Amino acid sequence: MTDTAHLTDTAHLAATRAGYDAMAEQYAEVFGAALDEAPLDRGLLGGFAELVRRDHPDPQLLEVGCGPGTVAGHLHQLGMPVRGIDLSPAMVGLARRAHPDISFEVGEMGALDAADASVAGLIAWYCVIHVPAAQRPGVIGEFHRVLRPGGYALLAFQVGDDTLRLDEAFGHEVSLDFHRLQPDAVISLLEDAGFALTACLVRAPDSATPAAKVPQGFVIARKP
Ligand SMILES: C[S@@+](CC[C@H](N)C(=O)[O-])C[C@H]1O[C@@H](n2cnc3c(N)ncnc32)[C@H](O)[C@@H]1O
Repeated sequence: MTDTAHLTDTAHLAATRAGYDAMAEQYAEVFGAALDEAPLDRGLLGGFAELVRRDHPDPQLLEVGCGPGTVAGHLHQLGMPVRGIDLSPAMVGLARRAHPDISFEVGEMGALDAADASVAGLIAWYCVIHVPAAQRPGVIGEFHRVLRPGGYALLAFQVGDDTLRLDEAFGHEVSLDFHRLQPDAVISLLEDAGFALTACLVRAPDSATPAAKVPQGFVIARKP
């Protein structure tokens, strides 16, 4: 059985996985240190970690769509127990290499290999942007399923109404859709799944960060 054989596949998942597998190395080179130049992002992740720790004696975190493991690595440095999953085996390989103390597995955020009510905090950092609109309620419902009562979800995404389609990235042929999202729409999705809003932040474009051309949205919500 290959690493991905257990995944329920669809065309968009296959295309997303193939795209990130192709460009994983270059993605990690460009974005692997993104948090170093993003003090507000680090502040938000630190605040999220403190919230989870304040409310949960066992503050187990799950990062979905973890890419090369940058955010999980930062949370680990903050002393948080965290594991990561990503659709792309190449990304998981890079994350394992960069952060050997953290567990990373290939997985799909719409069908998480995690028991009901098993994690205290879930981070989806720029990955829900790849989920087609029709599948977003199912994915957010899956986040709700794996969180304990009182658990928190943190979503980061590019703000907008359009979908950026990339046919090429770092010299590789890819087929990737980046759905920009409006914070109100993300909050509605979370509330429809049973979450209550904790916080919403929109950061203006910041030329010091690598993907800075549009505002960035961050939403934290709690499972009651
Ligand atoms: C823009 S990257 C963000 C990576 C990382 N969170 C970061 O900020 O560097 C999006 C990541 O989400 C992953 N991804 C996309 N769809 C996914 C899915 N359905 N399940 C799990 N991971 C997914 C991709 O493989 C990719 O690594």
